[in-house]
Amino acid sequence: MAAPQRIEVLHGVNLDMLGRRDPAHYGTLTLTELESRITGFAGTLGLEVSFFQTNHEGEFVERLHGLAGSAAGVVLNPGAWTHYSWAIRDALEIASLPACEVHLSDVKAREPWRRLSVIEELCLESFAGMGPDGYRLALERLSEHLSQST
Ligand code: DQA
Repeated sequence: MAAPQRIEVLHGVNLDMLGRRDPAHYGTLTLTELESRITGFAGTLGLEVSFFQTNHEGEFVERLHGLAGSAAGVVLNPGAWTHYSWAIRDALEIASLPACEVHLSDVKAREPWRRLSVIEELCLESFAGMGPDGYRLALERLSEHLSQST
């Protein structure tokens, strides 16, 4: 049997504060609890997941640089960087991996500055406002994409 494909799940700035952020937007799960949900979703799809969170934009960029050749795909929630970090957008392009964007909250229905995603055009699909289920949908989308391209 083929080894499971590894998907990297990247959490950006302030995602380590889940559990302390506004539950109306972000729910009540901590990042550790969210990651264990995501691991469960991945297991049912036969995917392996690895996680990385940082509050430092350069570290996020360098993590993306290191993914080429080591991960089959990436799920990313860059937090507020989503809306303005052209550096992260360029690093995602350099990584050149199938990617899905996830936001726990419904970013398009919040403040106007959250409506722009600088990474959206590089992603197969974006999922927002579905809480942890957005990660399940993103993994399903990547799994479908990977099964079509192998
Ligand atoms: C977020 C939405 C962003 O606008 C916000 O800055 C975050 C989290 C989300 O998951 O809903 O930090 O990416």
